Amino acid sequence: MSPAKIDASRTWLSGIRNNRPVIAPSLLACDFARLGEEVRALEAAGAEVLHIDVMDGHFVPNLSMGVPIVEAIRRTTSLALDVHLMLDNPEEFIAPFRKAGADALTVHIEVCPDPRPILDEIRSLGAAAGLSLNPPTPAEVLCPFLGECDLVLVMSVMPGFGGQPFQASALEKLRLLRREAPPQLVLSIDGGVKAENVAQCAGAGADLLVVGTGLFAGLEGDYRVRLDKLRANALRGCLADAAPA
Ligand code: DX5
Ligand code: ZN
Repeated sequence: MSPAKIDASRTWLSGIRNNRPVIAPSLLACDFARLGEEVRALEAAGAEVLHIDVMDGHFVPNLSMGVPIVEAIRRTTSLALDVHLMLDNPEEFIAPFRKAGADALTVHIEVCPDPRPILDEIRSLGAAAGLSLNPPTPAEVLCPFLGECDLVLVMSVMPGFGGQPFQASALEKLRLLRREAPPQLVLSIDGGVKAENVAQCAGAGADLLVVGTGLFAGLEGDYRVRLDKLRANALRGCLADAAPA
């Protein structure tokens, strides 16, 4: 891959810190029968990043999308693709997902106790390297590796399914990670994020807010209206956080 392409794949992430908060629609909740249309509609509605959940039926008790789907989405859009690998053996899939067009690849600390080799591999392929943790995993276990990731994804539900209730314990993890992480690291949150709690998430330090059913399921307005509302609410959380006490 040419150096220019590698740069393009990583610079979108620094844009997120500068333009926070950013909403990442989670395609797990979209209508798969109309995947291409859904992606184009989200792009037209102003989405900047798409979150893609990859599940193996082992690390999580569910199956979802794989390499051919990421490749098909890549052909449909130029939006950044944020690929969340919920796999027991992510090391076997970094190169295939990168080749398919992933811009960020996130692996779980629960299956990579020393994540440095896999984070290095992701970065060497020109993608942004992410590390995620499940609700029972303490945030402190990520601290030794924060200098080696581009993104940290805090799970606010047990991964595997959309539509679960938000676990507020994730907010304290965001605050701790924001204090400990280098300033350029992007903090993301995933699971149960909705218009009602997105301000709290952004206020606690999340830059990239993954929203599945909170965007797709039976709400009023089109995707632009819903994304604008989520973004406006998240921005209120950022401003409240920045206001003097
Ligand atoms: C859950 C996935 C999420 C999921 C979020 O395992 O990682 O990305 O799509 O869906 P909601 O927003 O409905 O909780
Ligand atoms: Zn996810």
